[in-house]
Amino acid sequence: MKDIYGREIEYLRLSVTQSCNLKCIYCMPDNDGAENIKCGRMLSAEEMGIVIKALAGLGIKKVRITGGEPLLREDIYTILRNISNIPGIADISMTTNGMCLEKAARKLKKSGLMRLNISIDSLKKERFAYLTGGGNIEKVLRGIKASLEEGLNPVRLNTVLIKGVNDDEVDDFIALTENLPLDVRFIELMPIGRFGEDNTDKIVYNDSIIERRPWLVPCAVEDIGQPARYYRISGFKGRVGFISPMSHKFCRNCNRIRLTCDGKIRPCLGSNGEISILDVLRERPNNLVDTLKKAIFEKPRGHNFENNFNSIRSMNMIGG
Ligand code: 5AD
Ligand code: SF4
Repeated sequence: MKDIYGREIEYLRLSVTQSCNLKCIYCMPDNDGAENIKCGRMLSAEEMGIVIKALAGLGIKKVRITGGEPLLREDIYTILRNISNIPGIADISMTTNGMCLEKAARKLKKSGLMRLNISIDSLKKERFAYLTGGGNIEKVLRGIKASLEEGLNPVRLNTVLIKGVNDDEVDDFIALTENLPLDVRFIELMPIGRFGEDNTDKIVYNDSIIERRPWLVPCAVEDIGQPARYYRISGFKGRVGFISPMSHKFCRNCNRIRLTCDGKIRPCLGSNGEISILDVLRERPNNLVDTLKKAIFEKPRGHNFENNFNSIRSMNMIGG
């Protein structure tokens, strides 16, 4: 269905947990706030299925599973299978940190997952461990390899660049696209959470990367709801994408809403408004569709990052 600004909303990002096995500096450096959902206030796999079925009836066609780290949910395969059985859902993807991916890739594919995004902010062992609060880059690289072998397509790497911290690795990331059919994407650091709010001077603007690399050839735009702009180096197997929420506001073409694991619809990443559907779902299920319709219709016009936006929820509680 369309929202109040005429945008066709067809994409759901579902955060299945806010727990994580890493502590990325811009997300949850203290790994706190992850356990504070009251007992019984988490959506079950079955409940997620019910909400998504209702959303499919309103025009949602794509679902991305996010976290925290979605692979920490033991019932992740059930969640996936439930979603893949919903008529109208044509595309199921996931964003993971890749730490548990090597073992999971096959079962994910079998359970209906089509494609995968992996967050990876450095290719250097020590730096990766520092940025993630103890992550193991080798594990993640093995997970990427396993995903490609299982035929998940596309596999995309998401890299948040931070000036003076990892922006010297841009060409190393781009080099991965020479022989691997990967999309490597650079995301501008957003002021969500303490680190992003305090370090707006460390944003690496994507245009500065593109300008200095004239060998990057722009690809045709496939989907205007997709915020990444893609480039390719002639003869390379993969692509390089740029997601620029800070320098190129893409809210006008936004086609997505979010559902958190504690049952709140968050229509916009960059606005704090949320609509709780947990009690509606449990106590007044006949009102579920109307509540969802209202939440979609009233989606805010766009983010307010330029005006000292303060997110009440940190990234691990929204899912990006
Ligand atoms: N700015 C930009 N991207 C972020 N992510 C998490 N926090 C931020 C932030 N402040 C990214 C993660 C992951 C995705 C879900 O969002 O790196 O790739
Ligand atoms: Fe975990 Fe993702 Fe947050 Fe890193 S960015 S701490 S991997 S939820």
